[in-house]
Amino acid sequence: MEDRSPMLSLGAVPTETTTIVQVETAANEEKEVILHRQNGDVIAWLNACQHYRHIPIDKGEGATMRNGEFVCQNHGAYFEADSGHCTFGPCEGAYLDSVDVAVEDGDVYLTDENYDFVGTGPLETDETDLTSTSNVEF
Ligand code: FES
Repeated sequence: MEDRSPMLSLGAVPTETTTIVQVETAANEEKEVILHRQNGDVIAWLNACQHYRHIPIDKGEGATMRNGEFVCQNHGAYFEADSGHCTFGPCEGAYLDSVDVAVEDGDVYLTDENYDFVGTGPLETDETDLTSTSNVEF
């Protein structure tokens, strides 16, 4: 990990939903990561459903959760928050893409060598591009 600055404080990571941070790959591709706090630890996944990977689990206002699982709002896939395993829905059996983070002294650090931290909050999106934020139900 190049950047030893914390992404955010542990207290800023919700237990009932998720918050978004932005990361960048070595190919300068920006991605969103969702963070969720559970039992004093933080779990992080790429903000991408495994049914249609351009669809975020957290659309910017925190992921919907039911009984410890994230619910994709588009077609109702359920993902265990701690394992990323899809237990129900069109991508049942798939796993969310994990991102390595660590909690130290009350702060959350990105420790995944595949990504660099960019900032907190959702990526800026083109509001005319409905593919990334669509709530279309099928
Ligand atoms: S895009 Fe998430 S369940 Fe279809």
